[in-house]
Parts: sequence; C-alpha cells; structure tokens
Amino acid sequence: MIYEALGMLNRSKYTTAFTGAGISVESGIPPFRGEDGLWSKYDPIVLDIDYFHANPLKSWEMIKEIFYDFFGKARPNSAHKALASMEQRGFLKNVITQNIDNLHQEAGSTEVFEFHGNSHQLLCTGCKRYFGLGELSLETLPVVCPDCNSLIKPDFIFFGEGIPPVAYRKSIEAAEKADVFLVIGTTGEIMPASQIPYHAKSSGAKIIEINPNPSNYTHTITDVFLQGKATEVMGDILAALV
Ligand code: APR
Repeated sequence: MIYEALGMLNRSKYTTAFTGAGISVESGIPPFRGEDGLWSKYDPIVLDIDYFHANPLKSWEMIKEIFYDFFGKARPNSAHKALASMEQRGFLKNVITQNIDNLHQEAGSTEVFEFHGNSHQLLCTGCKRYFGLGELSLETLPVVCPDCNSLIKPDFIFFGEGIPPVAYRKSIEAAEKADVFLVIGTTGEIMPASQIPYHAKSSGAKIIEINPNPSNYTHTITDVFLQGKATEVMGDILAALV
C-alpha cells in the first residue's frame, strides 16, 4: 500500500493535505470523538455560540482549561514536521486543517488554510479588534476587551458559526486543483469540513488516507488506506520520497 501511495505522491503535480484532530494526538492533544475524546469528558455546549453569549463565564472557564491551560503547551510532532518538510521539498502545495492548535505553522508549514480558525488569536465581539494570545490576560474571566469592555472570544469557530470565508474559498480551490489528497486523522463527521475530501475526489484526486482506525472515507472514497499513527506513516513516507 505504501508503495502505491509513494508512486501517487511522486507523480503528483498538486498534493493537498487535509488534517483533523488525529494528527495532533501524538502532541498530547486528545481527539474529540471516541473513548478518550474531549466530548466524552466535556459538554460540547460550551462551544455553542448562543450558549457562549448567554453564559460567558461558564464557557470561558472550560475553554481556558481545554484550549489554553492544557493544549497551549503542545508542540508539533514529527507528522506536522513531515508535512512542512514535504512543502519545502516541493511535494505538497498546502494543508487544509480542521485543527485550531497552530501546530502546522509552528512546524514550518506556510500554506495553511484553517477551516475552523485558530485558538492563538482572540477577537473582540464588540469593536472587532484582534488580539494575539499573550496580549490579553486569561486570569480574570470572562475575558473582556481593554478598549470597549465587550466580550472577547477565541478566534475559532464555535458551533452555530460560519466557516471563515477566505479559508473556505482557498480550501475549495485546493480540493479542486489537487490530483492527490492526503487525509490524515479525521473521522469526517463534521460538516461542512467533512465534504472537502468528497469534493477533491469528484474533481479527480486520488485519496490517500492515514488513520489507525477506519473513518467515514475509508470504504467510500479512499483509494489507499495507510492504517497507522500519523507520525509513523508520515515518517515512512518522508523517508521514501525522492
Ligand atoms: N494518528 C492519526 N490519526 C489518529 C491518531 C493518530 N495518532 N489517533 C487518533 N486518530 C484518528 C481517530 O481514529 C479519528 O479518526 O483521528 C480521528 C479524530 O477524529 P475526531 O475526534 O472526530 O476529530 P476531527 O475529525 O478532527 O473532528 C472534526 O469536529 O468537534 C469538531 O471542530 C471540531 O475540528 C473538529 C471537528
């Protein structure tokens, strides 16, 4: 299987990667679904946009614990670095990610389309000013804007919000252009992100999937399923690309 994937990658003129929570698992960030998934421990209601506005303190307490106190310490792993290295060596055009952890950029990828936003940026819901993480203290919750005192929200997508338009457009463009589409560590459960690989497939791309477990794509559109952890499979691929 890996040789088939390597052949596709070597012949490809436009490869795009599409990543989900699974690529960051080996950085210590748990996935959302499954036995040890976040949603088995926390109630996803804290990330509902209406709940957030109605209960900013409760939402912020949970958001800080999950996305800043704990995940904030995560570092890119060798799978993130392998994608960055593939981009540098000309084997990968871009990464579409559902993750908000900034780890692709920290690993060195430069063309990253963040379908769900980024936790390292904060946005004032009143005056719409953006703040970098570190510019605002998360000690007193809920976080409010130093300029206008309105509620501050992490600049990632909550349930009930739209996809950032630029990331959406660039992701669709990449899916349409790609001749190889590398799907790594996602169940394919959440719309509209889950539709992107189908879009790539119907535009003619071969789908290579990396996941220790079958996903919604495995028996539907995947051409080559490389069953395993992202770091292991990406390590093998990187070592063999010529
Ligand atoms: N390497 C690769 N994949 C892995 C690894 C690993 N080491 N460990 C787990 N996985 C796989 C799981 O088998 C699963 O298929 O990662 C996937 C994680 O799936 P989800 O938790 O559903 O995450 P994701 O698909 O990214 O979720 C999509 O759901 O709640 C929303 O907005 C959130 O962006 C997120 C979206």
